Amino acid sequence: MTRLVITALGLSLAFCGGEKRAQELQLFEKSAFDKIVDGKNISLYTLHNKNGMTVQLTNYGARIVDLWVPSKDGKFKDVVMGFETIDAYLKANDIYNGPVVGRYGNRIGKGNFTLNGVKYQLTINDGENHLHGGTGGFGQMIWDVVSAAENEIKMRYISPDGEEGYPGNLELEVNYTLTENNELVIRYLAKTDAPTVINPTSHSYFNLHGINSSSTNSHILTIYADKYTPTDKNLIPTGEISSIENTPLDFRRATPIGDRINFSFEALVSGRGYDHNWILMKNGGSGEIELAAEVYEPSTGIVLKVLTDQPAIQFYSGNFMTGNDVGKRGNINNYRTGIALETQNYPDAPNHANFPSAILNPGETYSQTCIYKFELKK
Ligand code: BGC
Repeated sequence: MTRLVITALGLSLAFCGGEKRAQELQLFEKSAFDKIVDGKNISLYTLHNKNGMTVQLTNYGARIVDLWVPSKDGKFKDVVMGFETIDAYLKANDIYNGPVVGRYGNRIGKGNFTLNGVKYQLTINDGENHLHGGTGGFGQMIWDVVSAAENEIKMRYISPDGEEGYPGNLELEVNYTLTENNELVIRYLAKTDAPTVINPTSHSYFNLHGINSSSTNSHILTIYADKYTPTDKNLIPTGEISSIENTPLDFRRATPIGDRINFSFEALVSGRGYDHNWILMKNGGSGEIELAAEVYEPSTGIVLKVLTDQPAIQFYSGNFMTGNDVGKRGNINNYRTGIALETQNYPDAPNHANFPSAILNPGETYSQTCIYKFELKK
């Protein structure tokens, strides 16, 4: 295992204005991620702010590798699942630990859609459907690093016309900024040379215990949404928009994830737990960045607030985690030990005229902002 241990003293001198912190961050060394694949360089980049919050990212999939935030015992916890080396990421069973997924994050039914009268067939990689951009989605690509600074990194990926079946050469830039308010701000900007569809999202598995194989059922969740998009048993939206009132999907009042997760409610049975698209109350209409969800783990005091300008959020409760991957510090990705909170357009929007449009035309700019903000409740 290759990792660099930064001690409390080192950290406090470097980032914390001399204030000593009785803790250590177990950061990975760049050498554990430096690799050339298909002539392209993969590496590891570290962002930090003055509070000591630290994020490591790799340009393999524009991916978050670790994310260290303060917890109430005075120590920092790494709150995202992942691996210690680039080789482990390249071999992982679950390829969705921390990357940007796309071109279309989430599912497209039967992997096809019609745009301007032309039917496009995408790669099928989830039963009979298309998930997270296909087998060679953006999370499997090596991105160009455009710029890297102490608290900010910009990466670019140019997706060629026809990749995974999508039309148009698409250029996507993702910018990660770590602010002094303990926010990781993720900004996406894209343009295309032919009409296409787009819905990138960030796909970390969070565990606010710190990554230690503990169940995320104890996390207390609020989702600022009053509707969701019901699906068939393969999680493809039926096109209906339903109220969450009187269902176990109602998270308008903060509720532990585990309280209702096993209810025999049809949507929970199809998803084997939570794996749904909640329509945010403001529904992206204003284009403003607003609070979408909030998660709190009482044992560490860590609060994660998710803010977005998107119309919806997918909350996935780790129901398909198999325990087959051994990640950082020996953590096993057991059933329901990580949650994803993916800000996005609705799944399968290209096939539903009543969903917000996912079409990007030449001359237009796609933009999205997602903020993961960390706070402490003592
Ligand atoms: C999806 C799950 C899927 C998982 C893969 C989530 O975004 O909603 O259905 O199994 O990604 O990691």
